[in-house]
Amino acid sequence: MMNYARDRTEPPREPAPAVEARALTVVRGDRTVLRGLGFTVEPGRITGLLGPSGCGKSTLMRAVVGTQAKVTGTLDVLGHPAGHPALRPRVGYVTQAPSVYTDLTVRQNLDYFAAVLRPGRRHRDARGEAVTRAIDDVDLASHTDALAGTLSGGQRSRVSLAVALLGTPELLVLDEPTVGLDPVLRRDLWHLFHTLAAERGTTILVSSHVMDEAERCHRLLLMREGEILADDTPAALRARTGSDTVEAAFLHLVDEASATATRQEATR
Ligand SMILES: Nc1ncnc2c1ncn2[C@@H]1O[C@H](COP(=O)(O)OP(=O)(O)OP(=O)(O)O)[C@@H](O)[C@H]1O
Ligand SMILES: [Mg+2]
Repeated sequence: MMNYARDRTEPPREPAPAVEARALTVVRGDRTVLRGLGFTVEPGRITGLLGPSGCGKSTLMRAVVGTQAKVTGTLDVLGHPAGHPALRPRVGYVTQAPSVYTDLTVRQNLDYFAAVLRPGRRHRDARGEAVTRAIDDVDLASHTDALAGTLSGGQRSRVSLAVALLGTPELLVLDEPTVGLDPVLRRDLWHLFHTLAAERGTTILVSSHVMDEAERCHRLLLMREGEILADDTPAALRARTGSDTVEAAFLHLVDEASATATRQEATR
């Protein structure tokens, strides 16, 4: 073992997590939707948030970007409490329902959001470059001048993604970005996510229903009914549950959790 006191070198530090939650609880209406969650999201990596419909994925993401009400516990994002104004330019968020202006073209949509991010004439050239890069990132260069209202659902969600990429965010929160996309586009988008993580150091938190996408993440948070069932790498999850796929591992953990809940009910 190294003796750091003796040789006076600093011990290697773990990079601070991009997101750190402790006892994170969210109430929506009369339901407790997130139940005392604790987890971290590693910086510069792709973390997949997986779980059945209604388990709380979107709620968790809204809490991370600071748009969710009735959040208690601790939730730190890039070293600030979630929702802190300093995080606005550092966090990109794509909601489950793409929000773009249908009566503007793809470029006009991006020009508009770029101007909101960096107002003023002196930023005009940088804005133009950022817009062109974002359009290229999501592979929509051939549709730059198409009205967003005339795009397919998948193309429209890529415009939303391009908007989120405009500010070169350090943390990108993507709520089911690949729903409704064909397999080729899904593959291309995952390629983009990996490029963003590897080359720009972007931290990506991405939710999905699709279990084969889980295999493409560096780490996974598996959720069920407002709780986290597992927080691990895909390989470790498969190994731990003796499963061939993440889907089988997830089902194994769900069955295990249900059996435990039933036992607890029986002893109450
Ligand atoms: N406005 C609301 N008032 C009360 N309950 C709500 C509200 N919005 C969502 N919920 C409940 O919160 C729970 C979690 O919803 P959430 O949208 O986070 O799930 P999800 O995992 O993203 O589901 P999906 O995969 O279908 O998008 C659900 O049970 C839902 O019914
Ligand atoms: Mg959702």
